[in-house]
Amino acid sequence: MGAFFSSLGKTITAGVVLLVIILLAVGAIFGDAGARLGDHVWWAFVMRWLHVLSGVMWIGLLWYFNFVQTPSMPKIPDEQKPAVSKVIAPTALFWFRWSALSTVVTGLLVASMNGYLGNALMLSKGVHAIGIGMWLALIMAFNVWFIIWPNQKKALGIVTVTPEEKAAAAKMAGMTSRINTMLSIPMLFCMVAQQNVGM
Ligand code: HEM
Repeated sequence: MGAFFSSLGKTITAGVVLLVIILLAVGAIFGDAGARLGDHVWWAFVMRWLHVLSGVMWIGLLWYFNFVQTPSMPKIPDEQKPAVSKVIAPTALFWFRWSALSTVVTGLLVASMNGYLGNALMLSKGVHAIGIGMWLALIMAFNVWFIIWPNQKKALGIVTVTPEEKAAAAKMAGMTSRINTMLSIPMLFCMVAQQNVGM
């Protein structure tokens, strides 16, 4: 048991197998929506599920940086800091930026598959809540790929720069990460508001 869960790959596979068992047991889980295995509604739902999985990883890591890693750094002795800056942060940033991209791609695909991508992006009435959520998340994803990641590469020493540039890059990455944390609050509200709030 312990050996099984020491493998992340096996753990994720077990999660998918468990999902399939639940789906087979519940059977008509998509019955009310009229979806049939493999039809368009079913694929749109799968895309929506992949979208939420990606989004949870992205925003989970964003909040990890802001709630855990950054506030902990001043409390860590200097000689131990490389464990974070050389090992933990690069790995977290890998999953952070790719889950951000995956969230964007799956989010745009699910909107397109459900036939309202253009209207949502134009903030048309009826889909303006999800549209605002999408625009906020797109700005956040832009920040991840074009501000946070390039500056983190300098701050973590992945690319070599002068000490002044390194300090400036760390400041810029940190501030943009904070801006994204702020944006995540209204973004998630708008993302889930479409169904219930009637914005
Ligand atoms: C640019 C990025 C994003 C785009 C384009 C986008 C797009 C969308 C769209 C179109 C839907 C509605 C799907 C449907 O019609 O069923 C949706 C739902 C959802 N999204 Fe996003 N999204 C983005 C980012 C995020 C992020 C970062 C999260 C964080 C977890 C997230 C979480 C969710 C959730 C939980 C739902 C389900 C809402 C509900 O059922 O009420 N999205 N997203």
